[in-house]
Amino acid sequence: MREMNAGAETWTAVDEYVSGMLAPHDEALSAALEASEAAGLPAIQVSPPQGKLLHLLARAVGARAVLEFGTLGAYSTIWLARALPADGRLITLEADRSYAEVARGSIDRAGLAAIVELRVGPALEALPQLEAEGAGPFDLVFIDADKVHTPDYFAWAIEHVRPGGLIVADNVVRGGTLADAAGDDATIRAQRRLHDILAADSRVSATTIQTVGVKGYDGFTIGLVGN
Ligand code: SAH
Ligand code: DHB
Ligand code: MG
Repeated sequence: MREMNAGAETWTAVDEYVSGMLAPHDEALSAALEASEAAGLPAIQVSPPQGKLLHLLARAVGARAVLEFGTLGAYSTIWLARALPADGRLITLEADRSYAEVARGSIDRAGLAAIVELRVGPALEALPQLEAEGAGPFDLVFIDADKVHTPDYFAWAIEHVRPGGLIVADNVVRGGTLADAAGDDATIRAQRRLHDILAADSRVSATTIQTVGVKGYDGFTIGLVGN
């Protein structure tokens, strides 16, 4: 009998069950993971149930314009882009040129090249350009790049998401370190700075949800713009 305090093996078993039932991979998602693995990219993409959640959130807000920080091999990109109409637009930012090449191949294979625009370079440097182009407002922003800058990306997103739109940040809980007020690790400090920002900003209403699964114990923050 499995219990409420079941461990990592159970989390994985449940993730696999839910993935098979509700978030099965088709050819393009499988191919994206295979291409990532073949190229030696780290297997740190969102889990299938989390990918499905991103997809559902994008659909729930009727997303037509999405911004993603951190493409890796485009696994989350594919889940999100598939929520968009044919004339929708997803801009995804990736710092690593070789990862971006792998991602581009997987986006093409998924038939999403017309919807997805991949920009290579540090995300922080891409933001002034997006600003200058008058990009946005976005319906959903997914933040999943370098974790020390999550609060900076989130703060930018608050200014560039339409009222009623969503901002989601991955990897906020990191094994519970979020609760370490004295933690001096830069990534922990950053997740706590994110919460300082959110607690003080009346333009966004947010919460953080802890998660377990194939990726262990972590969690995400979700914010609705327009209090
Ligand atoms: N969203 C992906 C996983 C992203 S992993 C998925 O779920 O499928 C984090 C990614 O952020 C890595 O590919 C890493 O190269 C990228 N990254 C790290 N620092 C970055 C930066 N400053 N700007 C943009 N991307 C960055
Ligand atoms: C890791 C996990 C992630 O979801 C991510 O975006 C970056 C790194 C990790 O487990 O190292
Ligand atoms: Mg992540």
